Amino acid sequence: MRILETLFHDKYVSGNEIASALKISRAAVHKQVNALRKNGYVILSSKKGYMLSKKADILDESEIKSFFDKPLSIAKKIICLKTADSTQTQLRRLAENSDAAEGIVLTAETQSEGYGRRKRKWSSNKGGLWFSFLLMPEMTPENASKLALVICAAVNRFFEKNYNFDLKIKWPNDLLYKNKKLAGILVEMSAEHDRINWIIAGIGINVSNILPESLQKESVSLKEILKTGVNRSQLLAGLLSEIEISYALFKKEGFGVFADEYNRKAAFINEPVAIDDGKRQLKGIDLGVDENGFLLLKTKNGVEKIVSGTLRKI
Ligand code: BTN
Repeated sequence: MRILETLFHDKYVSGNEIASALKISRAAVHKQVNALRKNGYVILSSKKGYMLSKKADILDESEIKSFFDKPLSIAKKIICLKTADSTQTQLRRLAENSDAAEGIVLTAETQSEGYGRRKRKWSSNKGGLWFSFLLMPEMTPENASKLALVICAAVNRFFEKNYNFDLKIKWPNDLLYKNKKLAGILVEMSAEHDRINWIIAGIGINVSNILPESLQKESVSLKEILKTGVNRSQLLAGLLSEIEISYALFKKEGFGVFADEYNRKAAFINEPVAIDDGKRQLKGIDLGVDENGFLLLKTKNGVEKIVSGTLRKI
């Protein structure tokens, strides 16, 4: 338990109570309270003890976990950083240089080198939700691209359940509100032979971050949609809980059980699209994904099955 957790109950808690709960001295309690204040928390103190009056708008492990209904196996440990080059890069360093196991989530308030698919720059100002999590599933590497679709469906489902607006999935894993990007998902993997060493999934959600001028036409934030801010700790807890359920189901049943849900929410189904798969530029009608997670594109030469690429409406 950490000091913040002892203050979550909207009432004064005495310094002695906190000290004995955390097995530290009263002086150490005082020091930690001051450290929290420096980080933006407003903590009142009186003869009755301490009371949290305003939570800082920074992500914190205890606060995020306080929104879980039950412990999550994908989020046993949540590391919250003020800044990172990229949460992907930081988590990759952890995965490669330690005996890190599945269940680590890493967040950053800002990223100086946030990136998206095809290493495109991902703008990561303060106020957004930028996080990555480490998975080590026992499955073959070709499943990683399907997992990206599963995570995308789960993130979309979270928004559908909790907010009153409609999102569309742009294949493979962007979430659009009225054709503007609200969230992007990136899944990276290290594999050897037929086995996955690690998968790092990164999610970027524009929450109340100010979008640079250059992105204002193509991106949107949750604050712009809702006209109000949201608690990012609660948002992250909800997203991780939804992803945990889908991840477990995917490991058990495979992608097939997600295909219908994915296609129902996918933008441009049965519409003409162009896809750049890294090697070829293909044009055709988007028939949605099949039960193996391939995108089916009806071209003049027949139906092509595509694993990954960038899709554009034409
Ligand atoms: C995309 O749309 O291409 C995917 C964007 C993924 C951005 C997130 S933000 C958290 C994590 N860290 C990164 O550097 N990228 C991902």
